[in-house]
Amino acid sequence: MKVLVIGGGGREHALVWKIVQSPLVEQVYCAPGNPGIAELAECVHINVDEIEALRDFALAEQIDLTVVGPEIPLTLGIVDSFKAAGLDIFGPSKSAARIEGSKGFSKDLMARHGIPTAAYKSFSDHSEAVAYIKEQGAPIVIKADGLAAGKGVVVAMTEADAVAAVDEIMLDKVFGTAGASVVIEEYMDGEEASFFAFTDGRNILPLASSQDHKRVNDNDQGPNTGGMGAYSPAPVVTDVLHQVIVDTIVKPTIAGMAADGCPYCGILYVGLMIKDGQPRVVEYNARFGDPEAQPLLMRMKSDIVPVLQACARGELKQDAIAWHDKAAVCVVMASGGYPAEFAKGLPISGLDAAAELDDLVVFHAGTAFKQGQIVNNGGRVLGVTALGDSVQDAIEKAYQGVALIEWEKVHFRHDIGAKALNRSH
Ligand code: AMP
Ligand code: GLY
Repeated sequence: MKVLVIGGGGREHALVWKIVQSPLVEQVYCAPGNPGIAELAECVHINVDEIEALRDFALAEQIDLTVVGPEIPLTLGIVDSFKAAGLDIFGPSKSAARIEGSKGFSKDLMARHGIPTAAYKSFSDHSEAVAYIKEQGAPIVIKADGLAAGKGVVVAMTEADAVAAVDEIMLDKVFGTAGASVVIEEYMDGEEASFFAFTDGRNILPLASSQDHKRVNDNDQGPNTGGMGAYSPAPVVTDVLHQVIVDTIVKPTIAGMAADGCPYCGILYVGLMIKDGQPRVVEYNARFGDPEAQPLLMRMKSDIVPVLQACARGELKQDAIAWHDKAAVCVVMASGGYPAEFAKGLPISGLDAAAELDDLVVFHAGTAFKQGQIVNNGGRVLGVTALGDSVQDAIEKAYQGVALIEWEKVHFRHDIGAKALNRSH
C-alpha cells in the first residue's frame, strides 16, 4: 500500500512512525512533513490547506489511503474532495468536522442527544451576551464559536473578565468571523482527560486513556498552549469510568451524528472534565490530539493501518486494540517565549545522542533544516517520548532524553506525568 499523511507536526511524525511499521505498507508520503518525518517518509511540498493539490497528488501517485492529521483540511472539506475522486481517506467530512469547527454545533448536538456537558447558551447579539453574563455571574466560560487556533476560550473568574472577553470577541473581532457568535457556558471544576475512539460512522473502537498538560509552566501555571506533554494510560480514567465514557458520551455522539444525517468517520477526540467519577464533555475535536498521539501510538501494539482503512471504508469490525503493557510519557520541548513571541532558526544539539537511547523516540514538531543543521521553527519543537515499565520509569527515561537536547532559550515543563504518580500512590 501507499499511504499519504497530511500534516507536519509531532502528531503526524508519530502517525508516520507507526504507519511505516505496518507490513501492509510499502511507501509513505507526508505533506508537508518535517525533518524528523523526512527520515521515515518522502515529504511532499504541499501545504495542508491546498486541498486540490493534495487530491491531485494522491490521484497521480495512486495513494491507497490518506490520513489527515490537523483540523484545518477537515473543516475545508478534504475528505469530501478525496471521496468524490474515489480515494480512500481517514477523517470526517466537512459537515461532520463541525463537531470541532463550531462550538454552537457541538453544544446543540450534546443537548439534542442527552450527552453530559456544561449548561450553555449561544449568542450572536453582544448586549444579550453581556446581560446573560450579569444574570449568571462568575466563574463562567466564554467561547468564540469558530476555530480560533485554540485561543478562543476564556475561563473568566470574574464578571468583568467575562464581559471583556465578549467585547474582544464580538466588538473588537479579535478572531474575525470565528467570533461572530459566542457560546457562554457554565464553569466546570474537575480533572481533565483526553479520550479517543476510532469510528467508521457506526461502530467504535476506543483507545487507551491519556492526559495532556495544557498550561505552559510547571504546576499548571501560565497561559494555555497546544499541549506541553502527555502520558498514557491516565489513572484518572479507571476501567469503570472508561465504560461510562463509552456508554454515555462516545456511543451517543456517534449515533447522534448519524441520526442527524452527518455520520462521523475517523477519530473522535473527546476533551473531558471528570468530577466525582462523572465525565462531562469540555469539547470535541475531529482529529488525534497533539501531543497525546505520541504516547498513545508508542503504546499501540496492533497494526494501525487496517483500523484506519476500515474506518475510511465504513467497515470497522475490530473490537479491540492491543496495547503494550507499559506506560508512555511525552515531554514537549518548546521555544522560549511560546505561546507568545519566540525566536526561530536556533540550532538544536543532542538529537543524535538522544536517538541512541532505548525505548525513546524524539518526535519532531516545529523543526526545519537550515544550512545542514536542524533548527527550531515553531512553538512546540520536539516531543521526547519514552516507554517505561511504569509511569515513573517512563518519566525518567523521557527526561534522560530531554537532558541531552539543547538550544538557546529552550523551554519545557519538569512535571510531566506527576499527576499520574500522585494518583497511583
Ligand atoms: P477548549 O478549547 O474548548 O478545549 O478549551 C480550552 C480549555 O479551557 C480546556 O482545556 C479547559 O481547561 C478550559 N475550559 C473550557 N471549557 C470549560 C468549562 N466549561 N469549564 C472549565 N474549564 C473549561
Ligand atoms: N492536545 C490538545 C489538542 O490536540 O488539541
